[in-house]
Amino acid sequence: MAAAPRVLCISGPNLQLLGTREPEVYGRATLGELHARLDARAKALGFAVDARQTNHEGTIVDWIGASRAEGFAGLLLNPGAYTHTSIAILDALRAVALPCVEVHLSNPDAREPFRRRSYVARACVARVSGFGAESYTLALEGLAHVLSRA
Ligand code: DQA
Repeated sequence: MAAAPRVLCISGPNLQLLGTREPEVYGRATLGELHARLDARAKALGFAVDARQTNHEGTIVDWIGASRAEGFAGLLLNPGAYTHTSIAILDALRAVALPCVEVHLSNPDAREPFRRRSYVARACVARVSGFGAESYTLALEGLAHVLSRA
């Protein structure tokens, strides 16, 4: 049997605090719970997910940059606040050219005006936002759909 296609899921700054961070905005699920749900959904879809979190922009750039050589088929990316600032992450996504779905727990478009600009969106096939922890599992379903067409 062929190995399950691998997906790299990256969560950016402050998302290690999920569960207690502004629960009215981000919900009460912890990042560990969210990763467990994602893992279960991935198995059901025939994928394997490697889910990571970092507060450091350069680490996100490193992880994306290595993702093709590491054999990942696609990416789920919640860059946190770097969404709205990071040309370096945009360039890393363009460099590896793997299908990437941008993910957000909240709906940035319904929040402060500075959250309406996403630099990474230009290098993503789609965006899933506003569904809380379910944004990640829905994004995985979307990515699975994209990969099945490839
Ligand atoms: C976020 C939205 C961003 O605007 C914010 O800076 C975050 C989390 C989300 O998942 O809703 O840190 O990416």
